[in-house]
Amino acid sequence: MAFTLSFSSSLFCLLGILLLHGAAVTSGCFSMEREALLDFKAGIHDTHNRLSSWVGRDCCAWAGGVACDTTTGHVVMLDLRNTNFTGDWALRDERMNSSLLALSHLNHLDFSFNDFSGIRMPEFIGSFMKLRYLNLSSTRFMGGIPARLGNLSSLYVLDLSDALYVDDNGDRYPVDNLDWLSHLTSLKHLDLSGLNLTDVPDCFSSVNMLPSLLALSMSSVGLNTIPASVVHLNFTSSLTFLDLSSNNFNTTLPKWLWNISSLTHLDLRDAGFRGVIPNAIGDLGSLTLLDLGFNQLEGTVPRSMVDLRRLKELHMLGNQLTGNLRGWLEQMTNLINLDLSYNLFNGSMSSYVGKLSNLTEFNLGGNSLGGVISEVYFENLTRLQVLDLSYNPITISIGKSWVPPFQLRYVDLTKSQLGPQFPEWLQFQTQIEELYLEDYCEIEGTMPAWFWNISSSTITVLDLSNNQIGGKLPSSLKFTKLKILYLFSNRFEGPLPTMLPSTLYLLSLINNSFTGQLPIWPHVTILTLSNNMLDGGLSSSICQWTYLEYLDLSNNKLFGEIPYCLGDGLSLLQLNNNSLSGEVPLSLKNCTELQFLDLAQNNLVGGITLWMGENLQQLVVLRLRSNMFSGVVPWQLAQFEQLQILDLANNNFSGLIPHSIGNLSAMRSISQYYKNCDYELDVFAKGQDLYYLQCSLNLMKSLDLSNNRLTGGIPKGIGDLVGLKNLNLSRNHLQGKIPWEIGGMKSLESLDLSINGLSGSIPESLSTLYSLSYLNLSYNNLSGMIPSGRQLQTFIDPSIYMGNAELCGPLISKSCSNNKTTQNIIQEYKKEIPEWLWFYISMVLGYVMGFWTFCGILFLKDAWRHAYFHMIDDMYDRFWVQWHLIF
Ligand SMILES: *[C@@H]1O[C@H](CO)[C@@H](O)[C@H](O)[C@H]1NC(C)=O
Ligand SMILES: *[C@@H]1O[C@H](CO)[C@@H](O)[C@H](O)[C@H]1NC(C)=O
Ligand SMILES: *[C@@H]1O[C@H](CO)[C@@H](O)[C@H](O)[C@H]1NC(C)=O
Ligand SMILES: *[C@@H]1O[C@H](CO)[C@@H](O)[C@H](O)[C@H]1NC(C)=O
Ligand SMILES: *[C@@H]1O[C@H](CO)[C@@H](O)[C@H](O)[C@H]1NC(C)=O
Ligand SMILES: *[C@@H]1O[C@H](CO)[C@@H](O)[C@H](O)[C@H]1NC(C)=O
Ligand SMILES: *[C@@H]1O[C@H](CO)[C@@H](O)[C@H](O)[C@H]1NC(C)=O
Ligand SMILES: *[C@@H]1O[C@H](CO)[C@@H](O)[C@H](O)[C@H]1NC(C)=O
Ligand SMILES: *[C@@H]1O[C@H](CO)[C@@H](O)[C@H](O)[C@H]1NC(C)=O
Repeated sequence: MAFTLSFSSSLFCLLGILLLHGAAVTSGCFSMEREALLDFKAGIHDTHNRLSSWVGRDCCAWAGGVACDTTTGHVVMLDLRNTNFTGDWALRDERMNSSLLALSHLNHLDFSFNDFSGIRMPEFIGSFMKLRYLNLSSTRFMGGIPARLGNLSSLYVLDLSDALYVDDNGDRYPVDNLDWLSHLTSLKHLDLSGLNLTDVPDCFSSVNMLPSLLALSMSSVGLNTIPASVVHLNFTSSLTFLDLSSNNFNTTLPKWLWNISSLTHLDLRDAGFRGVIPNAIGDLGSLTLLDLGFNQLEGTVPRSMVDLRRLKELHMLGNQLTGNLRGWLEQMTNLINLDLSYNLFNGSMSSYVGKLSNLTEFNLGGNSLGGVISEVYFENLTRLQVLDLSYNPITISIGKSWVPPFQLRYVDLTKSQLGPQFPEWLQFQTQIEELYLEDYCEIEGTMPAWFWNISSSTITVLDLSNNQIGGKLPSSLKFTKLKILYLFSNRFEGPLPTMLPSTLYLLSLINNSFTGQLPIWPHVTILTLSNNMLDGGLSSSICQWTYLEYLDLSNNKLFGEIPYCLGDGLSLLQLNNNSLSGEVPLSLKNCTELQFLDLAQNNLVGGITLWMGENLQQLVVLRLRSNMFSGVVPWQLAQFEQLQILDLANNNFSGLIPHSIGNLSAMRSISQYYKNCDYELDVFAKGQDLYYLQCSLNLMKSLDLSNNRLTGGIPKGIGDLVGLKNLNLSRNHLQGKIPWEIGGMKSLESLDLSINGLSGSIPESLSTLYSLSYLNLSYNNLSGMIPSGRQLQTFIDPSIYMGNAELCGPLISKSCSNNKTTQNIIQEYKKEIPEWLWFYISMVLGYVMGFWTFCGILFLKDAWRHAYFHMIDDMYDRFWVQWHLIF
């Protein structure tokens, strides 16, 4: 019995083992591999529960990216690609459990778009000897790439694009060598885009070792050299896809490119290539896509282009290419997508426009193309969706009853000759998303009734600015899908629409004749309404406009007080030139984002110390001119490190000029705060105006305290403001000497100290202000001889010294003593400066100073902005990952 029992239990046991083993095989999952996967899962942050199906014994049946070989039962594929990538990494891992190595049969490994920014790329990935497919795109590993990847000799796809971490400044860790690449002899697809290969010696040689490469991407890898010649190209006959875009080679197009006759896709956009496009480009007869956009290519396009018979996409925008497009373009009938915009092409469009009947995208904007295009030319362009002929001297002559054969999505006919009739054919276009007809040869009259109906369907961006369109806007635009609406500089009148769609974030209605109150538009982010005839008060409902960042209501007839809440989140507030009254609300104190504050020309009263708190650190422009502000000029002002324009003129400020004024950092520096405009990309992305406005600010640094009741002396520290271009302290009660230190303000172009009680002599140091072109010291108590040195000799108008009884010198015909040199000095002054020069100098000054307050947005509208947009769009696409992080 005992025996039986023991036997049967052994048998049972054995059976059990057999059964278990059977289960393992039939279910196709080896427990060792399952454990490895579970260990990996245990160490990972699975934000979106991607691995929730990793439960149960049969790992081959798990849905989340695990696949087994049906015959061997081994895990062969681990596909954890984050397919729903919205800037949000689904899996995060700080360890990457090396137990994964148990998956020794793995041939497909994909971790793309997951976040491994806590760890270095693990060496052990180089030990999956059977790996054929490895995708680490956008994984953000720290540090470099382990050379052990060179062991993966079966690999045929390797995607390392953006596989390494990019810090908040956009700095990318440099890869030091790629020698290991040469061992990957089976490799067919290689993507190294977004890595920092600046330091890799002989980068192209490493790649050239790969004999069977089909596709190579090295976009944005920071390369600045490319070999001019290559003795032997290993991949000449195999490579079909080559992307070298977004580098800075700064050289001519290398000859060896034209030997890669197998190429179908060649992307050299924004790669810093110069010189001409050689004839040999015609040797790439297999090309379907050619992108040479945003380089510095010049000369004419060679006729050999016609040999690229298979070409479907041709992008050469943003170069300096010249000549007529006739002779080759009309033969490129397979083209679907053509972008030659922003070059110097000329001649008439008429010979090719109608021939390219397969085109869906047709961009020729920003050239010098002429000719008369009538509806006949469009008869065969049935597939057209994108049409950009803007900024060309063409005439579009289309009959009133024309029904186009196409449905456009994007139309830009800015500055083409067409008006004054509103283009009637637009009423048949029901799919337009973006419509730009600005400066459209002055479209006149009122907007046709059908217009708002078509836009109600699809238009998101509408620009009709700089025309002569009149009439009223519909009382509600809520039915539209508008996001951006530019109607500035037209003749619109009547009340503003009471309702806007919640999608509309940028609305520019500057320079029209709108009347009535400002409606409640709680969703708008950027609102510019200056130069209209709005009246009424500013409702405190504005407090609920939580998205508002940029508000320009200047040059209207608004009255009443500034609502208490205003300020939170704003970066620009322009209420100048209205009839606002009362005190400035304390809420402004909290405006930590505020960069531009312009309350000039109102009836505002009270002191400014209270709201001028320490939080306004971003302030670049502060204009309170022509109000009734009183009290002292707060010393806190000097803490605003970015303040470039401070204008408190025409108020009742009293007391001393704060000694700290010499500490204004931005004015102490001759360098420009906005060093280059690209730097302000984030602002650009949200609203174009802001971007341009900030660039234009580079023009001016100004301090104007004139026409107040300031007393005391001019602080010596003012001489430290070496970047200041305009200093106006006139019409105060200032006393004491003009400090010698004033000679330190080397950038000064205009200095006005007139109508004060300044005494003593005029410091010689003034004569070393070589930029000075306007000076006024009249009506003070200055005495002694007017210095005659260098720059001061250019001032020949005696009135700038008048009203100083004790001054003497030849210019004001009052001799100081029997100084023998007097005669010589008079000779000097007689070298007159011509009248026209004076006119010019004063005009430039006036222009510069008045410019940004209301014109910024108008100046934005020039041709190059569009070219920039293309480029920015592109960069945006490429770096959208980082963008999402920033916002
Ligand atoms: C892998 O995970 C297991 C279980 O969580 C753990 O015991 C082991 O230490 C981990 N190994 C590494 C290298 O992190
Ligand atoms: C994609 O991710 C977003 C948030 O990251 C989430 O709300 C959404 O449900 C996801 N979509 C799918 C199909 O998983
Ligand atoms: C690439 O690496 C080099 C050398 O370390 C560095 O100077 C450069 O800033 C890096 N480039 C980027 C875009 O991070
Ligand atoms: C071409 O590839 C082979 C094999 O990888 C290599 O030995 C040879 O040096 C390569 N040729 C050049 C010019 O790099
Ligand atoms: C490109 O090279 C030229 C001369 O070879 C040089 O003058 C120029 O500064 C370079 N440009 C850039 C952006 O490196
Ligand atoms: C347009 O493209 C089609 C293929 O989509 C091609 O068959 C046809 O020849 C092209 N049209 C012209 C005019 O080349
Ligand atoms: C449109 O196509 C027809 C038929 O191929 C052709 O006769 C006509 O010239 C074409 N129109 C233009 C403007 O090229
Ligand atoms: C400024 O912000 C703080 C904190 O959000 C708030 O308590 C205070 O009331 C605000 N001050 C003004 C004047 O709005
Ligand atoms: C007389 O001229 C000399 C230079 O020639 C100058 O140094 C001196 O200050 C002048 N005297 C007066 C009283 O201006």
